[in-house]
Amino acid sequence: MSSEIKRIAVLTSGGDAPGMNAAIRAVVRSCAFHKLECIGVYRGLQGLVEGDFIELGPRSVKNLINRGGTFLKSARSADFRTKEGRQKAHNNLKKANIDALVVIGGDGTFTGANVFIDEFSFPIVGIPGTIDNDINGTDYSIGYDTALNTVVQAIDKIRDTANSHNRLFMIEVMGRDAGDIALNAGIGAGAEEILIPEEEMGREKLLKSLKRSKESGKTSTIVVVAEGDQIGKNIFGLANYIQENLSEYEVKVTVLGHVQRGGSPSCYDRVLASRLGVGAVDALIRGERGVMIGISHKKVVSVPFIEAIQGDNEIDIELIRVADITSV
Ligand code: F6P
Repeated sequence: MSSEIKRIAVLTSGGDAPGMNAAIRAVVRSCAFHKLECIGVYRGLQGLVEGDFIELGPRSVKNLINRGGTFLKSARSADFRTKEGRQKAHNNLKKANIDALVVIGGDGTFTGANVFIDEFSFPIVGIPGTIDNDINGTDYSIGYDTALNTVVQAIDKIRDTANSHNRLFMIEVMGRDAGDIALNAGIGAGAEEILIPEEEMGREKLLKSLKRSKESGKTSTIVVVAEGDQIGKNIFGLANYIQENLSEYEVKVTVLGHVQRGGSPSCYDRVLASRLGVGAVDALIRGERGVMIGISHKKVVSVPFIEAIQGDNEIDIELIRVADITSV
């Protein structure tokens, strides 16, 4: 065991994700198991800049594994992007005798953490927590599975009403730069069309496909659109375009929004969060720094931050084929 680490801080940063509480719990209890002290940082990297800390023991995280959101709260910190803000954060860590940090978040969080490591050589390990599942080097990020289930349940409900009225529903799901939620939830909910940022379909092809769908005898239609898709200016503009060109359809729009970020985490996310939380403390004890603890082929793995941030999270082409075939 690396002797210099006695006190570990943990924080959640960026967009919250179901299962973040379970990850904090695992970090706190892992610290207790290894007889290390654990400090919680409120409001992510902003809380580091402001020195907003709390001592955490194993009982501080009771009744949390099943709760959505993050009890430490989260933020997107503008101050941490400045050299001055990071200097304040470093001073606060030193003042509180904190030896290492576990950050739970997405690529923005890891980018900030990586700059901090370069500047101060401070030991940091990351845990991927984002519903977008857009982090390279891990098969899954915490919150993605729960968000997928939330989306599928919502689309199932929309399908009931779409079918009763023979309507076409355009449903916008989250995923600023990534189509993982749209593609997987779209297949799971039996969508006719799935529009994702990684694969530009084009408006003409979409119209043709919808026309074919109607002619094949389908009465209602579900089109899932990732928020980052570039086919139209926005989903409402695209809906108007379809309505103007295909009068046989009655087009409606639903934007699922932040409902996708809430709710009790799925069992998969709770187990993933627990494994990655334990893995993060294990990694710090082993002396690892500047790595994300992820999951690959069912095993907990360490991935350098730089790979997690820079690599492209590629969409699985096979999924696009499955979506095309099953929506015939
Ligand atoms: O990164 C997670 C995410 O939910 C994205 O899918 C979405 O684009 C973004 O966060 C929304 O961020 P905010 O809650 O700050 O509006």
